[in-house]
Amino acid sequence: MSDSLAFNKYAGAVLATGFLIALLVNASGIVFSQEKVAKSGYKVDVVEEAAGGPAAPEVPPDWGTVLKTADVAAGQATFAKCQSCHNADSGGPNGTGPNLWGVVGRPPGSHPGFAYSDGMKGFAGKQPIWDYEHIYQFVKNPQAYISGTKMSFVGLKQPQDRINVIAFLREHGGTLPIPAPNPAAAAAPAADPKADAPKTDAAKAPAPVK
Ligand code: HEC
Repeated sequence: MSDSLAFNKYAGAVLATGFLIALLVNASGIVFSQEKVAKSGYKVDVVEEAAGGPAAPEVPPDWGTVLKTADVAAGQATFAKCQSCHNADSGGPNGTGPNLWGVVGRPPGSHPGFAYSDGMKGFAGKQPIWDYEHIYQFVKNPQAYISGTKMSFVGLKQPQDRINVIAFLREHGGTLPIPAPNPAAAAAPAADPKADAPKTDAAKAPAPVK
C-alpha cells in the first residue's frame, strides 16, 4: 500500500514536471509570437503616421501664378511615369488609360473608345470638366480621390511635380486659358488680414541684404 503511494507520488512528480515543461515551452512560444506581432504592428503604425502627416490639408495653388512659372520640360520628364498607360499626342491611341490629348478642359470620362470605370463615370456626373484643380487632386492619389477608378497609379505626391505635369498636359491640346493671378492668393502666406504692416517691413527687409 505504502509502496504504491510512494510510486504515485513519484509518478505525480514526473507528470507535474512534464506538465510544467510543456507549459513553459508553450508560454515562451506565446511570448515570442506576441513579440513578433507587436513589432510589425508598431512598424505599420509608424508608416501610417508618416504617410498621414503631410497628407493633411493642402492649400491649392493659385493657377494664375504657378502655371506661368511651371517647368514644362520637367513636366514632360514626370510624364514618363504616366506613359506606360497614357499617350498625350493628338490622335494618339488609348492604352491602359485613355489618350490625354486635350484632357485639360475636357469632360471627365469622355475620350472616345475608352471603357471608363463606374467610378470615373460617377465623377463625370458631378464634375463637368477636368480643370487644373481637379487634375491636381486626382493625380495626387487617384484611388483615394475617385473611389473605384481604374487608374492604378500610386500618385504624384510632390505639388511641383503635379503642377509641371499639368503645364505639360495643357500644352498638349488643353483648352483652358491660364487664369489671371489672384492677388488674394499671392498674399495668402500672411493669413492674418491685419498683417499689412509686418508685410511692408518684410518687403523692405530683403533690400539691404541685396
Ligand atoms: C497604370 C496605368 C496608369 C498610369 C501609370 C497613369 N494612369 Fe491615368 N488613367 C489610367 C486609367 C486606367 C484611367 C481611366 C480611369 C477610370 O476609368 O477610372 C486614367 C485616367 C486618367 C485621367 C482622366 C482622363 C479622362 O479622360 O477622364 C487623367 C487626367 C489621368 N489619368 C492622368 C494621369 C497622369 C498625369 C499620370 C502620370 C502622373 C497617369 N494618369 C498615370 C491609367 C494610368
